[in-house]
Amino acid sequence: MSLDFVESSPLDYSAEVAQATAPIYQKLREFIPELEWPVYAPYVAAINELKKQRNAIILAHNYQTPEIFHGVADLSGDSLALARQAGETTADVILLCGVHFMAETAKLLNPDKTVLIPDLEAGCSLASSITAEDVRLLRERYPGVPVVSYVNTSAAVKAESDICCTSANAVEVVESLGSQQVIFLPDEYLGHYVASKTAVELIVWKGHCEVHERFTADQVRAFRQQHPGVEVLAHPECPPEVLEEADYVGSTSGMINYVEEKRPNYVVMVTECSMSDNVAVEYPDVHFVRPCNLCPHMKRITLPRILASLKNLQHSVEVESEIARRARRAVERMMAVGRGKSG
Ligand code: 13P
Ligand code: SF4
Repeated sequence: MSLDFVESSPLDYSAEVAQATAPIYQKLREFIPELEWPVYAPYVAAINELKKQRNAIILAHNYQTPEIFHGVADLSGDSLALARQAGETTADVILLCGVHFMAETAKLLNPDKTVLIPDLEAGCSLASSITAEDVRLLRERYPGVPVVSYVNTSAAVKAESDICCTSANAVEVVESLGSQQVIFLPDEYLGHYVASKTAVELIVWKGHCEVHERFTADQVRAFRQQHPGVEVLAHPECPPEVLEEADYVGSTSGMINYVEEKRPNYVVMVTECSMSDNVAVEYPDVHFVRPCNLCPHMKRITLPRILASLKNLQHSVEVESEIARRARRAVERMMAVGRGKSG
């Protein structure tokens, strides 16, 4: 089949498409009404076909919608897992279903591959809360204090940092530096959480995730009242008073591992909306209470945009070579610390 098949045969829900996507719909039937599947299925089939022709791999963050996460992704996970997987692939093209900093991290680890993001506007409020110049000023103010930056930052900010971390390995990374003081950026709440787990003193930037900062402790108490026995899992980007109410605090993959290991009867994941949908597909016996805060950036990634991205090889993520060299060093240093662990 040639690469122009997408145009030559518009996105009909043909018998062939229905058959090719039937096993995927079987998994998603609780989440996507039968009436809606004919809208998604032709894209799912076309993307899966085109990705073979391109020798492309699709990596999806845990916050992608179920038709992407279960329909077209080859690999999925939290930020740390995506970075690792990006570093290990032999595909020619990496298409990142997530936000820009995730695609940029994949590019840093694969400078010679084509790395695509379906929408360049898929940003992150944490990444846009700090610039490389801000980091240089912090270094002037705190001479000699090492800088740990959360992967939710631009490559330019990573380039000014000693090492990166994710929510899955932040405590380990901070402690790996052997310093009594560390500059931690840009997430104030993750910084606050890490500080509660280590004797290292953290100087914290006051950036916030626009999705997680909206959760409140009152909401969590209400979940407990409405669903006695519910187990509360929260992402460390939530405010400290929310984390205090939680039974478990961890990265998105950490939450998935919790459900896998403990099989709670009732669970609430205090994080982005699509998480619970994606995990519920795999654990039909677990009841998910679904608080819903959408990440508008993650939701810019849609099946039509993924198809256009693969078809036109757009939007190719590029990082200026000197920034890339320095940013890669910070990411690779993190990978060396966190090797063998996720969640
Ligand atoms: P994770 O690394 O836990 O997947 O978090 C990434 C993120 O953007 C959370 O908002
Ligand atoms: Fe950024 Fe928050 Fe969206 Fe994660 S959920 S990508 S931290 S804005």
